[in-house]
Amino acid sequence: MFTTEIGTNIEKASNLLQEGNVVAVPTETVYGLAANALNPAAVAKIFEAKNRPYFNPLIIHLASVNEIEKYAYIDEISMQLANEFMPGPLTLLLNKKNIVPDMVTAGSNKVAIRIPDHPLLIELLHKVNFPLAAPSANAFGYVSPVTSQHVLQGLQGKIPYILDGGKCNVGLESTIVEVNENGETILHRTGGLAIETIEIFLGKPLIRPLQQHNLSPQTSGQLKSHYATTTPLIQGNVTELIQQNSDKKVGIISFKNQYQQVAKQHQFVLSKNGSLTEAAQNLFDVMRHLDTLDYDIILAENFPDEGLGKAINDRLKRAQYTQKD
Ligand code: TXA
Ligand code: MG
Repeated sequence: MFTTEIGTNIEKASNLLQEGNVVAVPTETVYGLAANALNPAAVAKIFEAKNRPYFNPLIIHLASVNEIEKYAYIDEISMQLANEFMPGPLTLLLNKKNIVPDMVTAGSNKVAIRIPDHPLLIELLHKVNFPLAAPSANAFGYVSPVTSQHVLQGLQGKIPYILDGGKCNVGLESTIVEVNENGETILHRTGGLAIETIEIFLGKPLIRPLQQHNLSPQTSGQLKSHYATTTPLIQGNVTELIQQNSDKKVGIISFKNQYQQVAKQHQFVLSKNGSLTEAAQNLFDVMRHLDTLDYDIILAENFPDEGLGKAINDRLKRAQYTQKD
């Protein structure tokens, strides 16, 4: 057990990491639970603190695109994607070099790499001078944290320090892609970088093998049940769902509209202006908040199937599987 401290002391975070401890760190997507990626004993502590299965590989975070080749072999298209979108909410799956421990990749010959776009974390990465392996800093299966308080709620007593970098400004985990031997780009997880933005850059569509839920999940973000609130959540036509659940205490997550049938205080609008970027920023915060209130059920709208709306729908869909499967 630890006393978990929250602060902005980079020196302290750096010292803890050098000593082989875990530290929660801010990124622009969600908070991560970081450890020295080159130290398997330190990486093991991430799995312990999160209660995460060891077969689930971790993303490694680097300070700059220039460092990628220390840890992975990078093809031309991946390099173009890196130069265009990093730092930022994109993760590339690449063939790993031997220096990356199997503990990080769960024995896979691929490693997931990303360059976070957060000044505090970049400063920390420069200071420690090793890559940081980091999954989202939540207990396994729960909604990802976008504030230091969220991290504390899930991991208090299990980690020594949370580096506080404010609220994450993307609010969804990174988009994960992989360029295969044929030069096709495969989408492994929707996320904070809109699919269309990548497709416009590449000039062709991404391949989406994991859209069908029956495929074996390669990434935990692709597990059917994930990002789940404890209160049951249903996504769909909220007007109909309100009628079907008229005997229950319902909380509502909507994009920009409210519903007359339910009192305003039980409705959480993610973006009054109809901005999907703003909706993404607020999604996990609102899901977590609703989960602390005394609702029987959370009803969520179907968001527009475009831009970050795709990733928002993906997270809501997975949040509801817990109750069904
Ligand atoms: O935005 C993000 O990506 C955040 C921040 C902290 O960087 N991280 C994050 O990590 O969401 P995590 O562990 O919650 O999700 C990473 C996903 C997992 O689904 C994992 O299975 C997949 O990336 N992944 C990591 N390494 C992989 C590998 N070598 N092969 C296939 N999938 C991998
Ligand atoms: Mg996660």
